[in-house]
Amino acid sequence: MQLLTENLNLILSLLLLILCLSLIWFFFIPKKGKKFLIHLLTRKSEIERIIKKKPHAKDVISFWSSLKQSQHFSKIVTTIGYGSFNSREIIEEILEQKKIKNDQLVEKRLKGFLIQIHLFNETKRKLIGLQETSYDCKNQEHEMHLQELWCSMKPDTTFERKSKQWSKLGFQGKDPATDFRGSGILGLFFLEYFSKKYPEESKKALNDSYGTESRSFYPFSCFGIQLSNELLQNLKKTDRLDSYLLMKKPELATFFTLCSELFIKFNQLWKKKNPENLLKFPSLFKSFFSDSIKNL
Ligand SMILES: *[C@@H]1O[C@H](CO)[C@@H](O)[C@H](O)[C@H]1NC(C)=O
Ligand SMILES: *[C@@H]1O[C@H](CO)[C@@H](O)[C@H](O)[C@H]1NC(C)=O
Repeated sequence: MQLLTENLNLILSLLLLILCLSLIWFFFIPKKGKKFLIHLLTRKSEIERIIKKKPHAKDVISFWSSLKQSQHFSKIVTTIGYGSFNSREIIEEILEQKKIKNDQLVEKRLKGFLIQIHLFNETKRKLIGLQETSYDCKNQEHEMHLQELWCSMKPDTTFERKSKQWSKLGFQGKDPATDFRGSGILGLFFLEYFSKKYPEESKKALNDSYGTESRSFYPFSCFGIQLSNELLQNLKKTDRLDSYLLMKKPELATFFTLCSELFIKFNQLWKKKNPENLLKFPSLFKSFFSDSIKNL
């Protein structure tokens, strides 16, 4: 009996010790220190561990943050963003710096990461560029996108550059260009994408947005413009867009697909909540938006 109590005491003390050590590990050892300790134990750099472990979609995020933190790689971090980057040179430099033995698998994984990061940088730059470009009526390309939007939303009618019909699409006035002045052409690109890639869902949402006798209206296009801009704005501030785009396919379509899915969800929410008038729109949008961001 006494032996058992003694052993039990020993086990309890051990457990307590392990608990204390874990707490110290979590709360008191900074990230850098942890990396160093793991490095001492495994004799491998963080980058090598990421490359050699079982692949997971999140690896590219860990790889990118490790690369950004390392002072040896600041030049590489800059060159990845440029169009002319040479993945072979970068791979060799990383392998040499981190003393990693090269083999085909290592090279393939590294190359995959680098291309993913390169595309991500390009996509983010393009999105921000669209947001920063104001609609220009003299720009043929801008005008063409407007026409495309009309044609896919109202295929049975003839295009009119300025017309009351635009307010039927949820713009504020006869000239949709005014709605893109403040927010850039990101919203136009999104609406066009939504109408083309989700032809049924977008038309259904447009019809729903008119409301009924017992349900309030909301402006379809204005909502799309606001949604796409707020999404980019918000994701620029946090690093959620980074992780989201890096893990998915980093291209414009990924961003616009996300906007489209959120549009459809919001339309359903609007119908379900059935607010008495448009004044309820901002608060409903706000809570919908922050919930959606959290769940990305
Ligand atoms: C893309 O890469 C360039 C060059 O490294 C950099 O200056 C820029 O900030 C990057 N852009 C984004 C959106 O990450
Ligand atoms: C459009 O909305 C009205 C009212 O909600 C509905 O009665 C009608 O069936 C809808 N039309 C289409 C094509 O979805």
